[in-house]
Order: sequence, then structure tokens, then C-alpha cells
Amino acid sequence: MAHRCLTLFTVIVISCIYEAGGVVEVQKLPGWSPWSGWTSCSVTCGYGDSFRQAHWLDKDGQRVNETAREHMGCYIPKSCPVNGNWTVWSGWYWCSSVCGPGRQERYRYCVNPKPANGGLPCSGLANESRACEVQPCPTIPPSFRLSDCADEDFMCDSGLQCVPAAQRCDRTLHCHDGSDEVKCRYVRNQGKKSL
Ligand SMILES: *[C@@H]1O[C@H](CO)[C@@H](O)[C@H](O)[C@H]1NC(C)=O
Ligand SMILES: *[C@@H]1O[C@H](CO)[C@@H](O)[C@H](O)[C@H]1NC(C)=O
Ligand SMILES: *[C@@H]1O[C@H](CO)[C@@H](O)[C@H](O)[C@H]1NC(C)=O
Repeated sequence: MAHRCLTLFTVIVISCIYEAGGVVEVQKLPGWSPWSGWTSCSVTCGYGDSFRQAHWLDKDGQRVNETAREHMGCYIPKSCPVNGNWTVWSGWYWCSSVCGPGRQERYRYCVNPKPANGGLPCSGLANESRACEVQPCPTIPPSFRLSDCADEDFMCDSGLQCVPAAQRCDRTLHCHDGSDEVKCRYVRNQGKKSL
């Protein structure tokens, strides 16, 4: 609806003439101004709001502090950008060593939601690591002699110590590097102790 507003000054009455749907009306003052045009949609994508307003005009055609507003929903047929967001952190994964200092990691993923339609990627790291130690490593007994090792003994990964074969995977550490309890059929203790 297009308005063309003219203010006519006469001796006693100030009138505003405007065009509404092709009909020219004479507005008496004081009174409401014609509606403004609709504002543009409040969003650039998806659903938003638009409004038009009118002002109460005093007898001189001046705006006073009273405004009428009419709202209308609007829709811009364009996908809104979706910024990425992290999932919560996973739990801490296994400590990298059965005994002695190791490291463990935890992860998060940028899928909560995934960035879309030009939205921002997640900022920050997708993983985090910290020091861990499940338990201290045993020490090599002072009486131990490598030359006493028999073929059937289990040789620790370091090559510096052997232990009786029966001690392999018995859930107790014997090798000074913990290797007698590595790659066992049982699920080893996932120590969560941090340093
Ligand atoms: C307009 O009216 C509102 C509420 O009635 C008031 O808070 C505001 O201060 C007024 N503004 C002016 C410029 O008088
Ligand atoms: C991101 O995801 C977390 C965890 O679900 C949630 O608490 C937070 O409100 C989300 N942030 C945004 C901007 O979506
Ligand atoms: C951890 O994240 C960094 C960068 O965020 C990456 O370079 C590294 O490969 C990741 N490590 C693992 C184990 O996923």
C-alpha cells in the first residue's frame, strides 16, 4: 500500500491527505498517521519478523510519544548458516603404558552440530592428552642374572630381564618394563590416575 502524504496548512484544520488503495482520504488531526511501509525481514534466512508502524499526530501534525505497531511473520527461503559445535569430551582412553609414566588421550567431535551452509568450524583441539601412570613398575631384583635365563623363560621386552613363563599374563607385574602383562587375553586395568 503506497502512501503519498501531503500536509495542508489551513487556518484552523491541518489535514493530511494520503492515498490508500487508490482512494484519497483526508485525515483529521489529531489522529493516527498512515501506516509506514513494512520493514524488511528481521533475518536473512529462515523465519523472522517484519512490522509497520503508525504514529499519533497532534493537531500540528507532530509525532507524539505513542506508536502503533503491526507485526507479520516473514520467511526468507535460504538455508541459515549452522556453526559447528563440539560433542562433550569422551572419557580418557587407556594409559599408553602398563606401568610407569605414560600418556592417555580423550577426544571430541565437531558434529553437535556439524558446520553447514557456510557456518563456522569448531575452534580448539579435537583431542587432549595428559600424563598417566597405572602403577609403578617393578624393579629388577638385585640377585637377578641375565645369564641364568632359560629358553622357556619369558624374556621381557627390554631384553634386560626374564621371568618364569608362568608369570606371563598372571595379572601381576614382574618385568621391570611391565611387558609380561602386555597383550594378555584379559582386559588390563585402564588406569585413570593422572600425574
Ligand atoms: C515514551 O513512553 C515510554 C513508556 O510510556 C517511556 O518509557 C519513554 O521514556 C517515553 N519517551 C519519551 C521520549 O518521552
Ligand atoms: C554445544 O554443545 C554443548 C553440549 O551439548 C551445549 O551445552 C551447548 O549449548 C552447545 N552450544 C551451542 C552454541 O550450540
Ligand atoms: C590430535 O589433534 C591434533 C590436532 O588437533 C592432530 O594433529 C593429531 O593427529 C590428533 N591426534 C590423534 C591421536 O588423533
